[in-house]
Amino acid sequence: MPYELHRGDVAEAYETWPTPDVIMSDGAYGVRGFVGDTVDAEGLTEWYRPHVEAWTRRAHPGTVLWFWNTEVGWATVHALLVENGWDYVQTVVWDKGIAHVAGNVNGKTIRRFPVVTEVVVLYQRRLTMPSAGEMLPVQKWMRAEWQRAGLALNRANEACGVRNAATRKYLTQDWLWYWPPAEMMQRLVDYANEHGDPSGWPYYSLDGTRPVTGKEWATMRYRWNHVHGLTNVWQHGALRSSERIRGGGERSAPRTHNPTEASAAHLNQKPLELMRRLINAVTEPEDVLWEPFGGTASGSVAAVEGGRAAYAAEMQDRFADIAEKRLAEAAQWEVSGLPK
Ligand SMILES: C[S@@+](CC[C@H](N)C(=O)[O-])C[C@H]1O[C@@H](n2cnc3c(N)ncnc32)[C@H](O)[C@@H]1O
Repeated sequence: MPYELHRGDVAEAYETWPTPDVIMSDGAYGVRGFVGDTVDAEGLTEWYRPHVEAWTRRAHPGTVLWFWNTEVGWATVHALLVENGWDYVQTVVWDKGIAHVAGNVNGKTIRRFPVVTEVVVLYQRRLTMPSAGEMLPVQKWMRAEWQRAGLALNRANEACGVRNAATRKYLTQDWLWYWPPAEMMQRLVDYANEHGDPSGWPYYSLDGTRPVTGKEWATMRYRWNHVHGLTNVWQHGALRSSERIRGGGERSAPRTHNPTEASAAHLNQKPLELMRRLINAVTEPEDVLWEPFGGTASGSVAAVEGGRAAYAAEMQDRFADIAEKRLAEAAQWEVSGLPK
């Protein structure tokens, strides 16, 4: 699959990349983890603001965001995401395990439990649809349009060809609501436009001139590929295997001192296995991934291996060189089918 690596500030690349299906953000943490990272969580909102605005501008209704951070870093940026129309879906906790404590903690001086986690949080675009002159969230819109058509709620069952599940699933206003699959949506839309009060036509329209089609409907929601048995807590050691890129002998971050050839080339390199899970859950082959803060481009490598198109940026030459090499290798694997 194609990939593109922008060597420089991602701000210059956003407008040139194709519309993303998923954005893999692994940027500032407020821990001085790379040159340009903030010194604490407080600076994070302003650090992320221009990026979140660009993501919002370029996203389509089904675009999702995976946002990596510490708990407090994510908690800080959450409000900015909400302000820009990103709705929280879930948090995945990466548990690096007890081995991560060794050497990191002086039990005599810290006054809290040692931290062995990072989080990666899923957001979707907030979808609002027009109904009688106002914009409504999808769940409300489903019912409001049905009622605007003057139809009794239980007629949704007839529309969908089922005994009682449709009204309960698609028109309810409580948390048991289901997003109608494309085929059921097509039936509801057809029914409302055929049997509804002709004076209010069109019903379930996005542009006010014609009803939405089932096919259009399907693109408005993000994909989800379920993996049985995989929960939102992932136990996986921090990278110590051969996957960890070492050497270079340079300080990879303001907080590293006296690096040797055995030191990690990049402090924040993420395990490919975790990136694969995140990407495979929300994309299909040929979908487009953005990785604005590339580092060693782990997200893009996992995407390319899996036949997705990846667009990454990295502003430090040293890391961009590593990313470029890894991406070229991943593209080879993808073509030759060698083990991943
Ligand atoms: C947390 S690291 C990403 C690590 C990556 N996930 C990996 O697995 O290697 C963030 C990276 O983003 C880069 N970066 C920060 N701001 C950037 C920007 N505006 N444009 C491009 N790269 C940026 C930093 O140089 C750093 O290498």
